[in-house]
Amino acid sequence: MAFRNVTPLAALDEGKTLSVTVEGKDICLARLEGEVYAFANNCSHRDFPLVDGELDAGDCSITCEWHGARFDIKTGAPLSTPATRPIAVYPCRVENGQILVDPD
Ligand code: FES
Repeated sequence: MAFRNVTPLAALDEGKTLSVTVEGKDICLARLEGEVYAFANNCSHRDFPLVDGELDAGDCSITCEWHGARFDIKTGAPLSTPATRPIAVYPCRVENGQILVDPD
């Protein structure tokens, strides 16, 4: 495990997403109800960025804006078709006002 300092928490508003590149990986950060999540910024259906998708605090999911697949952003599991494969999720934490992600 090797956490990298990614961005200040202040750069990610509640209910919003932000794309970052960590060790060459395109990662989407999301802040929902005070928690920060990190997952692949890439829908497993057709390789489309998830950063512009819609977050849902009710089931902690994001909906891809292209064809509407939903993913659990805690586990990466697909919650609806057309996606059938999970997306990668990354360990993430907040320390001293900074978001840290382990991209390995
Ligand atoms: S590319 Fe995301 S649902 Fe098709």
